Amino acid sequence: MLQQQAANEKLESYSQSLEQKVLLRTQELQEKNDHLKQLVEELHRTQTQMVQSEKMSSLGQLVAGVAHEINNPVNFIHGNLEHLNTYTQDLIKLVQAYEQLIPEPPAALQETLTEIDLEFLTEDLQKILQSMRIGTGRIREIVLSLRNFSRLNEAEFKPADIHEGIDNTLLILQHRLKAKAERPEIQVIKDYGDLPVVECYPGQLNQVFMNLITNSIDALEEANQARSFQEISEHPNVIRIKTQLLDPEWAAIMISDNGTGIPEAVRSRLFDPFFTTKPIGKGTGLGLSISYQIVVDKHKGQMHCESTPGQGTTFVIRIPVQHKTLVSA
Ligand SMILES: Nc1ncnc2c1ncn2[C@@H]1O[C@H](COP(=O)(O)OP(=O)(O)O)[C@@H](O)[C@H]1O
Ligand SMILES: [Mg+2]
Repeated sequence: MLQQQAANEKLESYSQSLEQKVLLRTQELQEKNDHLKQLVEELHRTQTQMVQSEKMSSLGQLVAGVAHEINNPVNFIHGNLEHLNTYTQDLIKLVQAYEQLIPEPPAALQETLTEIDLEFLTEDLQKILQSMRIGTGRIREIVLSLRNFSRLNEAEFKPADIHEGIDNTLLILQHRLKAKAERPEIQVIKDYGDLPVVECYPGQLNQVFMNLITNSIDALEEANQARSFQEISEHPNVIRIKTQLLDPEWAAIMISDNGTGIPEAVRSRLFDPFFTTKPIGKGTGLGLSISYQIVVDKHKGQMHCESTPGQGTTFVIRIPVQHKTLVSA
C-alpha cells in the first residue's frame, strides 16, 4: 500500500516535470519561430531593396546608353542645320539676284516659277528650318537631363556657398524671368538667412534649384493664361527663395511661387520619373525625380512640397551642413 503510494507520487512528479519541460520547449520553439519570422521579413526587405537598386542601376545604364547613342546623330543634325541655313540663304539670294537681272523671264521659266510658288517656298523654308532647330535643341536638352539622371555621382563633393549657387541659377534663368509681351517681369524675392558653407555636390544642387525654379516659372505662366497683362500687373508673379539655418546641423531652402498650385491627386506622383502634366514637348517629367534623388540619396537630406491649388506651391529642401561619415556616393 505504501509502495503503491510512493509509486503514484513519483509518477505524479514525473508528469509534472514532463509538463514543465514541454512548456519550456514550447516557449523555446515559439521564440525560435518568432526569430525566424523576423529573419524572413528582413530577408524579404533586403531582397526587395536589392531588386530595386538593381533595377535602378540597370535603368541608369540603359538611360546612359540611350542618351549616348542619341547624342551623336542629334549633334550632327544640329550642326548641319546651321550649314543648311547658310546655303539656303545663299541660294535664295542668288534667285533674287536673277529676278532683278531678268524681271521678265521667258515663258518656260515663268511657268516653273509659278509651279513651285517661289514666294511661298522662300517663306516656308525658313519656318521649317527654324522648327527643325527648335526640335533638335529640345532633343539635346532631354539627352542632357537623361545624362545627368544617370551619372549623378560624377561631380565633386566640397564645401560650397548655397546662395552663390542659387544666384548663378537665377542668372542662367534670366531669359525666362524677364518681362514679355504678355506679362511683366517675374519678381524674385530673396530672403537669405545666415548659412555657413555646406558640404555638397554644388553642381547637382544647382540642378535642383534650376529644376524647382523652372517648374515655378512654368506654373506661373500657366496661371497667367487666364489673366490679362493688367490683371497680372496688379497681382504680380512672385517667386520667393528663402534660406535658413534650422540648427547647427541642418540648412533649409524654400522655393515658393504663387502659380497654379498642385492638386492632391498630382501631389502623390510628383517625384515619379517621367510624371508630367505638361504638354508633349514641354515636360519630360524628370525634374523632380532627379531633384529628389540628388537631395535625399546623394545628400542624405529631405525634400517635400506644400501646395494649395489656385494659391501656389512651396518646395522645402533640408540638407545636412556637414557629412561626418559620408557614404561614398
Ligand atoms: N511649382 C509647381 N507648381 C505647380 N505644379 C508643379 C510645380 N512643380 C512641379 N509641378 C508639377 O509636377 C510635375 C512634374 O514636375 P517635373 O518632374 O519637374 O517634370 P516636368 O516639369 O518636366 O513636367 C509637373 O508636370 C507639374 O504638374
Ligand atoms: Mg520640371
